[in-house]
Amino acid sequence: MTADPTSTPQPDMSTTAGKLADLKVRYHEAVTASGAAAIEKQHAKGKKTARERIEQLLDQGSFVELDEFVRHRTTAFGMEKNRPYGDAVVTGTGTIHGRQVAVYSQDFTIFGGSLGEVAGEKIIKVMELALKTGVPIIGMLDSGGARIQEGVVALGKYGEIFRLNTASSGVIPQISIIMGPAAGGAVYGPALTDFVIMVDKTSQMFVTGPDVIKTVTGEDVGMDELGGARTHNERTGVSHYLADDEDDALDYARALISFLPDNNLVDAPIYESETELEITDEDRRLNTVIPNSPNQPYDMRSIIELLVDNNDFLEVQPLFAPNILIGFGRFEGRSVGIIANQPQAMAGTLNIDAGEKAARFVRFCDAFSIPILTLVDVPGYLPGTDQEWTGVIRRGAKLLYAYAEATVPLVTVITRKAYGGAYIVMGSKQLGADLNFAWPTAEIAVMGGQGAVNILYRGDLKKAEEAGEDVAAVRTRLANEYTYNVASPFLAAERGELDGIIEPAATRVAIVKALRALRTKRASQPPKKHGNIPL
Ligand code: HXC
Repeated sequence: MTADPTSTPQPDMSTTAGKLADLKVRYHEAVTASGAAAIEKQHAKGKKTARERIEQLLDQGSFVELDEFVRHRTTAFGMEKNRPYGDAVVTGTGTIHGRQVAVYSQDFTIFGGSLGEVAGEKIIKVMELALKTGVPIIGMLDSGGARIQEGVVALGKYGEIFRLNTASSGVIPQISIIMGPAAGGAVYGPALTDFVIMVDKTSQMFVTGPDVIKTVTGEDVGMDELGGARTHNERTGVSHYLADDEDDALDYARALISFLPDNNLVDAPIYESETELEITDEDRRLNTVIPNSPNQPYDMRSIIELLVDNNDFLEVQPLFAPNILIGFGRFEGRSVGIIANQPQAMAGTLNIDAGEKAARFVRFCDAFSIPILTLVDVPGYLPGTDQEWTGVIRRGAKLLYAYAEATVPLVTVITRKAYGGAYIVMGSKQLGADLNFAWPTAEIAVMGGQGAVNILYRGDLKKAEEAGEDVAAVRTRLANEYTYNVASPFLAAERGELDGIIEPAATRVAIVKALRALRTKRASQPPKKHGNIPL
C-alpha cells in the first residue's frame, strides 16, 4: 500500500508538481472509497473486496483500471452528498496466464454493489471493450441489484447489459463468478454467460427472494436453500462449479480460461506436451476397465483421465446430472471438449438434465472451435412419466440439435453400451461425427439383450415355462446370443458406421491421430439467420 497522500498539505494546483500530487490524492481516494469499516464488514463475511478479487484473478501487476473517477449523478434521497469515486464497481483489463481479459467486479462496500446508471455504464463500457478486442470477459458479482434510488434508469442499464451478453455469446467467452447476492432480474446477466461459478455459503441467486415467496405462496424457505451455491450446482444446473471459497472460485476461473480461445476467430492456446505415439503402460490400464458383467458400473472419469494430457480433466458442472460428464482436457497440448456417459450414475442413462447439460456444452465448444470427443456407454433414455411429462421430447431434442449442427471435429468412442435413440444422439456417425471408434466390448443395437429377447422370443419363453424349463437360464442364453449376433460392434463396422474397432489401450493414440487428421476439417451449415433449437 502506498503512503496516504491526503495526509500531506493541499497540493499547489498552479504547478505541474501540484497537479501530479492532486492526481495521487484523488487516486488514493478512489481506491479507498469504501472505508476501513465497510471492508472489515466484508472480510468478516468471508468475502474479499472487489479489488482483492481482481488482484487474485489476474496475473500479478497486470490490472489496468478504467473509470476510477466515475461518480453517480443521482440527487434523489440525498444521494448527492455521497458520491464516491468509481461508484459500486471496479472495471478494467489485465492478463491471465499472460493472455488479455476484461473484468468487472461489483463492490458491495459501496451502495451494496447496487447497479445504478454509472455503475451500469462502467460495466457496459468494459463489456464493449472486450467484445471489440475479442477477449474473454469475467464478471465478479456481489450486488443488491438495481439501485433502488435510481429506479427505471437502473433497470434500463440491466437491459443494455443483457443485450451485450447476448451479442457477445459465441463471440467471446463470458464467465460469471457469483461472490455474494445476485437478486431479481439481475440473475439473468450471469444466466446469459457461458460459465457460472458460485461460492459455497456466501453466494445466492434468485429471481424472487424468501420474503416475497413467503408473502405470495406462504412457502418458508431460507436464502441458501432457495438459491445458494449448492442448490444451483446440484438441483437447477444454473451454476457450473461449486467453489469451496473465493480462492477456489478464482482458481477455477483461471483454469477454465487456460482451455478457452480469446474469441471465436482464433484457436485456443496450445500448451507444450510430450505426446507418446506408441501405446504406453498407462494406456494398457484401459484394457482392464470394462467389467465382464454388462450391468456392473465403472468410473468413466478414470478413462478420461487416462486419455488426456497429464491426466488433467477440468470437469464442468460435476454436481448436476452426474449421469453425463462434460469438461475440458488436452490432446497434444490442444483443448478438447469431452462429453461422456457415466455408468456410475443412473447407469449412464440419458435424461432431460443430462441432455440439456451436454447440449449447451456441445454448442459452446462448437461456437469456439474446440473439437469434441464423445465417450459412449449409454443403455438408453431414462423411462418414466416424470421424464415424459417434463418434456423429454422437446428438451431431449436439444442434444440432437447441438450435435447435428456442430461443425467442429467430432470424434466418438463407444466403450460399451450404445442403445436405441441414445446411440444416435451420442455423437453417432449419422448425426455428423467425423471419426467413430468402438472397443470390442461395445454393444450397439435397438435395445439391450434382455429387452429384445422378451419381445422377439415371447412365444419360446412361454413354451419353456410350460415345459418346466429354467426360464431365466433360457432368457440369459438367448440374450447373450442376441448381444453377440446383433449388438456386435463388428456389424456396425461392416456397414461403415464405425471407422474402426480398437483395443482400449490404443484409444489415446487413435484420438491424437484422429484430431490431427481433422485439424483441417471444413464444414458449414446452409446460410440462415439462425436455427430454431427446441427450447
Ligand atoms: C441501493 C442497496 C441495494 C439496492 C443494498 N443496498 N441493496 N442500495 N439499491 N438494490 C445497500 C443497503 O441499503 C446498505 O446500505 C448496503 O447496500 C448493504 O446492504 P445490507 O442490506 O446492509 O446488506 P446485507 O444485510 O448483507 O443484505 C444484502 C441484500 C439486501 C440481501 C442484498 O441489501 C437486499 O435485500 N437488498 C435489496 C435487494 C433487492 O431486492 N434488489 C432489487 C432486486 S430487483 P447502507 O448505507 O446501510 O450500508 C433487480 C432488478 C434487476 O435488481 C432488473 C433487471 C432487468
